[in-house]
Amino acid sequence: MERADLLVVHASELLALDHGRPGPAVGKALDDLRIIPDGAVAVTGDRIAAVGATAEINARYTASRVLDAAGRVVMPGFVDPHTHLVFPATREEEFEMRCLGKSYEEIAAAGGGIRNSARKMRGARREDLLARAKSLRRMTLLHGTTTIEAKSGYGLSTESEVLSLEIAREIDDRGDVVPTFLGAHEVPDEHRADRGEYIRIVTEEMIPRVAALGLARFCDVFCEKRVFSIEESRRILVAARTAGLGLKLHADELNPTGGAELAAELRAVSADHLIRVSDTGIRAMARAGVVAVLLPATSYFLGMKAFAPGRRMVSAGVPVALATDLNPGSSMTGNMQFVLTTACLGYGFTVAEAIVAATLNAAYAVGLGEEVGSLAPGKRADLLVLDVPRYRLLAYHHGVNHVATVVHHGEVVA
Ligand code: NIG
Ligand code: FE
Repeated sequence: MERADLLVVHASELLALDHGRPGPAVGKALDDLRIIPDGAVAVTGDRIAAVGATAEINARYTASRVLDAAGRVVMPGFVDPHTHLVFPATREEEFEMRCLGKSYEEIAAAGGGIRNSARKMRGARREDLLARAKSLRRMTLLHGTTTIEAKSGYGLSTESEVLSLEIAREIDDRGDVVPTFLGAHEVPDEHRADRGEYIRIVTEEMIPRVAALGLARFCDVFCEKRVFSIEESRRILVAARTAGLGLKLHADELNPTGGAELAAELRAVSADHLIRVSDTGIRAMARAGVVAVLLPATSYFLGMKAFAPGRRMVSAGVPVALATDLNPGSSMTGNMQFVLTTACLGYGFTVAEAIVAATLNAAYAVGLGEEVGSLAPGKRADLLVLDVPRYRLLAYHHGVNHVATVVHHGEVVA
């Protein structure tokens, strides 16, 4: 008999998502959860040692701790590959303005939106920012998110962007918060008259500083009409690539600008949002293997009828992932279970497709596809025991938290 530290046994359905080859799931593979009935997982330290039928795992392993998951689904922890986790204050007054008929873009044009947050950020105290980010991170973990990307982007000054990324680092002690520099999220008030100067600061001051301090793994840009143009986005991303950062892009969210094409041209790891992506952009992403990070909770929360053409992207062979977009303006949720429901309804995904997009493919969207996102031997032991007997209930019975237990880095944390 081999010794393990933890056994999770008798899962009614164990969603292994182990396709036995590297790379995100595309096309038909997206719909394949690799379900093991009466499944079990053996955990040693912070790693998955083995996955299989309970009879098989019980015959091979003994462990001091055994979790009985009878009547429950077991799956990999969610990976949320797009959040704006570090922000100074909530913006519920803008939510209500939208409920009463103003659009997100109208509110932003009147000085609200990201610039509203940036103003509040300037006066914010480090300990308050940290406390807010920590509490949100805890909430996402309790809803099953074991790996999360976190962007800066409300500071919009070198000091304040560095501070945001330091906070992302401080809430992470074991590599499960992936930091992304998003200094090009908006042009702040003081540079509205000379946006070229702000882009110079981003490319010549912020990026080298952030890279030298090792504070970010990726650089992202909000490429959007009235925010950063394609040419500006290209300049910023090329500077980031030169500094050694991976690339991401807020692309074609509210208007078609050619963001997907730019992401493909620069071989970005992901292009995100894509509500208005063109067919050329879809083909370019498929060819370049850029992951489409789709954010259905944002379409929902902005009250949009339009969702990204998720089904068409899957058919075209684009690897698709799902994320919350957690931020105080356009998506105030960190709940990936809610994202599954909105993805099924908004894109016409099966529940299985949504789950693969929210775990395995999401891991590839943050460069961690070999480390997390499926229940495979050698991967980090991040898994969820869900209080549902069949996986479809996870998206179907919406608006509640189905997570009964979270195993994070091999430890039972909730
Ligand atoms: O991803 N689109 C740009 N940034 C965020 C919104 C940020 C905000 O409103 O505070 C987004 O939707
Ligand atoms: Fe975003």
